[in-house]
Amino acid sequence: MDELLQQIETYRSEIGSIVPNGAEALEAYRIRFLGTKGIVKNLFTEMKNVPADKKKEFGQILNDFKQFAESRYESWKSAARAGDGTGTAPSDGKDLSLPGDPLPLGAHHPISLVRDQIVHIFGRLGFSVAEGPEIEDDWHNFTALNLPENHPARDMQDTFYIHQNPDWLLRTHTSSVQARVMEQQKPPIRIICPGRVYRNETISARAHCFFHQTEGLYVDEDVSFADLKQTLYFFVQEMFGKEVRIRFRPSYFPFTEPSAEMDINCRICGGSGCAVCKHTGWVEILGSGMVHPKMLENFGIDSNKYTGFAFGMGIERICQLKYRINDLRLYSQNDVRFLKQFTSAT
Ligand code: DAH
Repeated sequence: MDELLQQIETYRSEIGSIVPNGAEALEAYRIRFLGTKGIVKNLFTEMKNVPADKKKEFGQILNDFKQFAESRYESWKSAARAGDGTGTAPSDGKDLSLPGDPLPLGAHHPISLVRDQIVHIFGRLGFSVAEGPEIEDDWHNFTALNLPENHPARDMQDTFYIHQNPDWLLRTHTSSVQARVMEQQKPPIRIICPGRVYRNETISARAHCFFHQTEGLYVDEDVSFADLKQTLYFFVQEMFGKEVRIRFRPSYFPFTEPSAEMDINCRICGGSGCAVCKHTGWVEILGSGMVHPKMLENFGIDSNKYTGFAFGMGIERICQLKYRINDLRLYSQNDVRFLKQFTSAT
């Protein structure tokens, strides 16, 4: 009897120290302690050797032990089941029943959407895309565009120069692509040049050190200001809707003569006045003009035979009016909550 009680105690402390690792260990435990030839069963067969007056006491101890061994088994089993959803996999801390990580779908950047739409609209008018380098030389960014050294208009564009070579700079406008195209191509020329430009500006809601422009250039025989006006009017109608209104204001750009800036009626307030249109009802969206004869001559294009118009617009501004984005910094912060809101309008 004492021997049996001693044995039961030993088994108890053994069970107390078991940490079954995985389904196999759990099953081994079940077979060893609770199986048909297991320890609990064997202890019950010892009952026949226990004196009659001790049978009741021993029976109780044995039942206790059986319950203890079974309850440990059940709790290990349910812990394993919670671990893998089936109760068959090891409970090694991994929850295999969790759903997989979703792969979020990306979205087009609003600048890309608007750029593509601009390219698409002008594409229908026969304009093809031309590109140029973002690191430019002085000639293509300034001098060829009728902006010689010390020309005051250079100050309008705070330029980033490349340290190693003062002749190199980050292009301040996409007009540099005009110069590159006229260098290589003879009229008729009909191009649109979207791209990134850089200016040394303090970053704020209204200014950034980089932004995007689209240049347009059309050079052929008999190109007139009426063509310029009609082309740009068609563009804004396609971009903003048929009811959009435009106005031209005389302006100055060294590479065009005459020059004009084009406004549209404010898409945010509809013309009644708001912060975006500075309570005027009009928003400037581009600079434009007839290509300066000197520019044509710079590239060996006969200015008596050919004329052309050019324009340059900020893509962020078009985007602001289309999607009501009032802070330029949002475009480059890569916040997915901002980026996933835009869908293509084309
Ligand atoms: N390059 C000018 C700017 O960045 C925009 C511009 C104005 C481009 C008139 C043109 C143009 O082609 O004709 O402010």
